[in-house]
Amino acid sequence: MRRLIFTAGLCLTLFGATRALRGDAGRDALEARVDALLARMTVAEKLGQLQQLDGFAEGDFRPEHLELARRGALGSTLNVRGVARVNALQRAAVAESRLGIPLLFAFDVIHGYRTIFPIPLGAAASWDPAGVERSSAIAAAEARAVGLRWTFAPMVDVARDARWGRVAEGAGEDPFLGAAMARAQVRGFQGDDPAAPGRLLACAKHWVGYGAAEAGREYNTTDLSERALREVHFPPFRAALEAGVGTFMSAFNDVDGRPASANPFTLTRVLRGEWGFDGLVVSDYESVRELQAHGVAADEAEAAAVALRAGVDMEMVSRLYVRHGAVLLHGGRLDLATLDQAVRRVLRVKLRLGLFEHPYADDVPESDVLLRPQALVEAQAAAARSLVLLRNEGGLLPLRRDLRRLALVGPLADDAQALLGSWSGDGRKQDAVTLLQAVRDEAGTGVQVEHARGCGIEGGDEAEMQVAVDLARRAQVTVAVLGESAEMSGEAASRSVLGLPGRQLELLQRLHATGTPLVVVLMNGRPLALPWLAENVPAILEAWFPGTRGGPAIADALFGDVNPGGKLPMTFPRSVGQVPLYYAHKRTGRPPAEGKYTSKYLDVPVTPQWPFGFGLSYTRFELSGLSLSATRIPTDGELEVAVDVRNVGARSGDEVLQLYLTDVAASVTRPVQELRGFERVSLAPGATRRVRFELGPRELGLLDAELRFVVEPGAFKLRVGQDSTSGLEAAFDVVAR
Ligand code: NOJ
Repeated sequence: MRRLIFTAGLCLTLFGATRALRGDAGRDALEARVDALLARMTVAEKLGQLQQLDGFAEGDFRPEHLELARRGALGSTLNVRGVARVNALQRAAVAESRLGIPLLFAFDVIHGYRTIFPIPLGAAASWDPAGVERSSAIAAAEARAVGLRWTFAPMVDVARDARWGRVAEGAGEDPFLGAAMARAQVRGFQGDDPAAPGRLLACAKHWVGYGAAEAGREYNTTDLSERALREVHFPPFRAALEAGVGTFMSAFNDVDGRPASANPFTLTRVLRGEWGFDGLVVSDYESVRELQAHGVAADEAEAAAVALRAGVDMEMVSRLYVRHGAVLLHGGRLDLATLDQAVRRVLRVKLRLGLFEHPYADDVPESDVLLRPQALVEAQAAAARSLVLLRNEGGLLPLRRDLRRLALVGPLADDAQALLGSWSGDGRKQDAVTLLQAVRDEAGTGVQVEHARGCGIEGGDEAEMQVAVDLARRAQVTVAVLGESAEMSGEAASRSVLGLPGRQLELLQRLHATGTPLVVVLMNGRPLALPWLAENVPAILEAWFPGTRGGPAIADALFGDVNPGGKLPMTFPRSVGQVPLYYAHKRTGRPPAEGKYTSKYLDVPVTPQWPFGFGLSYTRFELSGLSLSATRIPTDGELEVAVDVRNVGARSGDEVLQLYLTDVAASVTRPVQELRGFERVSLAPGATRRVRFELGPRELGLLDAELRFVVEPGAFKLRVGQDSTSGLEAAFDVVAR
């Protein structure tokens, strides 16, 4: 069987040019400036450029930072923000240090700076890259207004284990959807040029494999084959790179025997060698120091040496480079060329940002830029697009307009802080509108809305519960807002059970027993396992942590002004024991079937509770007319796939068309299916749209046994559907040229 093997050159074209270079002349001039600076720098000043230190949580710098900046012994800070503070510290670096090299101010702007958008997992549930790009652009403009120039986002770790709390911060389980969201965020933060007004330098993190933490336990080890890295974990990083991302962050975990913050294979061979990345790599928080705990460095000096040699340019918070760099150099354990290379990358990024020309933040009143009305409109729209309708038996939702008595209960019905989710920048709960507030506005005077918490997220007493149950008994409909608190997901927030925490399930069961029709709104930062809800609660709306304008978005959905159209970016399991559970799993020689000796469990089905890509709507869509431009295409050919989608219900709504590909037989094992295209469309009742997808070598190819990218002749199947389990199917062949 003949196969088409792509040369490195062709592969590069296929994957898109790394980044539009700004012309050779500009590049040479920039490098010449770096050379000139390097030639004047002492070793201490060079090491200083590699040091990033943490300010106070509320945004101030530490007294020591001023002193270090004056000595040219500081390259960057994180968490220092606010125009006055940034400019004061910058002045010490620019006006008082010997060489006047500006500082780079960083902050975790993950899903908004002051106007908070849905958590990234929720944003991914929108399947709407254009919307995500707009949200990121607003976040960038707000952050820029407080003097920030660099965000530690996007987090593009593929995550397939719902126990891992950081699934909240990423785009979920799929490399293809993850790549689309990575591109959108980088574009939104950086635009065409991160130096331009209102833009921020982005950071693809955490390079790499952090999402594969064993047992979903935060900071845990991973065991990843090079194939898994290349097929599953690299693609969103590659997409971020192609979108022009300026920096990468090295992860906490280890990958194949080398910590990611001291891993020459990932940091140098792949990132620099294969991908040609020339921006800077920053370590994660103290991950250089932690090389000792990983057991790959006997002492601090050795940790500094292995990290620098592997390709970590800037050290976040721990101070091993500055402390031991000079001794390492003198002792011959570190080359000057290695040090210079790291400094060069830092200076290059600072020059690209135009920091030398414009080091100071514009003194525009922050209030002119933060929480602009348009930002709030976008935040509400983004929250609305992230909603996923998981169940709607008997059309309980949307709620009837003539509803008179509504019980709105549960610990999250009026919790403004929880709305913001983890990593919520400088978002304030006072800015956020809860569902209770929004429903009271939305429902107007006609509906009597009564509220009781019922219980807390993690606890609650009998009396409190009884109040909520009594309200439910008197109401025509009960809406219960349940889930996790914001700090139950995000960093250092792994869980070993995926049910509703505390007494929430008990509350729900008692609400259910009243016989009043019951709607559950979920807020959570990860897939939950909710078998009782899936069986017993007629209407379930997944709202993630929807941000500042989450309450109004959810209220609009409950009352039908918004028709939910989001889809799950991660599989929801039936039980934690199934985890990791993801749709693009590899095949097995004994797929699950009737017989005993097949791949399954004795006590739970192998299927998920709700599959990847799943989400209902208040209307219905039908697919028809699936057509392929050819049924045989050569290995370097293109295939166009088209399908009609029609809104056959009575309301306007959105559907996300998803194209899944199956390589029937290949030289290596392949997943059962893989997402290779998607599009979210909005359709009025009765309207039809023909949606087209292009498949080419990039979508059809695989990594062969030697991990070379090839397109192999053979049979393929594809399915275009409304989730990862159903749809219209077709087959085609790829043939040798
Ligand atoms: C540790 C986290 O892992 C990383 O994502 C974050 O950017 C840094 N801390 C800085 O806050």
